[in-house]
Amino acid sequence: MHSVLAGHGLVKKYGSTTALAGVDVEVRERDSLAIMGPSGSGKSTLLHTLAGIVRPDGGQVLLRGERIDNLGENKLSALRRKRFGFVFQSGQLLPELPAEENVALPLMLEGTPRRQAVKRARRWFAPLGLDGLEGRRPGQLSGGQAQRVAIARALAVEPDVVFADEPTGALDQATSTEVIRLLTSVTREQGAALVMVTHDADVAAHCDHILHVRDGLISNYSQYTVA
Ligand SMILES: Nc1ncnc2c1ncn2[C@@H]1O[C@H](COP(=O)(O)OP(=O)(O)OP(=O)(O)O)[C@@H](O)[C@H]1O
Ligand SMILES: [Mg+2]
Repeated sequence: MHSVLAGHGLVKKYGSTTALAGVDVEVRERDSLAIMGPSGSGKSTLLHTLAGIVRPDGGQVLLRGERIDNLGENKLSALRRKRFGFVFQSGQLLPELPAEENVALPLMLEGTPRRQAVKRARRWFAPLGLDGLEGRRPGQLSGGQAQRVAIARALAVEPDVVFADEPTGALDQATSTEVIRLLTSVTREQGAALVMVTHDADVAAHCDHILHVRDGLISNYSQYTVA
């Protein structure tokens, strides 16, 4: 399988803090990778560096074999919008917009006319168990439903990679399991890779690989944890 996303020798320093101390990571097509580790170990920094949000001080990030860490800010932000989808812990939906328009937003930002964008957005509702909720505003959704809308929004542009930082961090155990099942399965069906940060070993167990980070270094890497 081809490598979709790779980080080679990633280093990131904040003053005297070394957040990443030379990390190598590779994500292949339809692969899902969970990043685990203690608070402050560098998990979010690694995710943000792979996603082109944080620029590394050393090393390279490659998307389908092409370097992206050295792109200019405009090219990088266009690439993030087109090729990456993002899911965060909570609070990422615009409260004044119905769910379907929240999902359509990344498409509209890409220049797709509103009607067409909303039509494309609607096709994600059934696979994510959101049928009938298209017109609800985020305040009228449960936490789990809101996260599924956020997943739909991340997938709307049909990205190469979905990045998720603690996507179940604000959910109870049962809801978390449901959301993570859908996130991993729908992302895979879409043909995208998934890179996720989580504190929860049960959540990480849904991914193909688990990478443990400690003090900015990979301390353990398990392959194909899912049979
Ligand atoms: N913008 C920043 N400025 C200064 N230091 C930072 C910044 N971002 C992260 N750090 C530091 O880098 C280290 C790694 O932070 P990071 O956010 O990657 O940790 P994390 O593993 O995601 O932690 P958590 O589980 O608490 O979210 C920490 O020591 C943190 O204080
Ligand atoms: Mg973090």
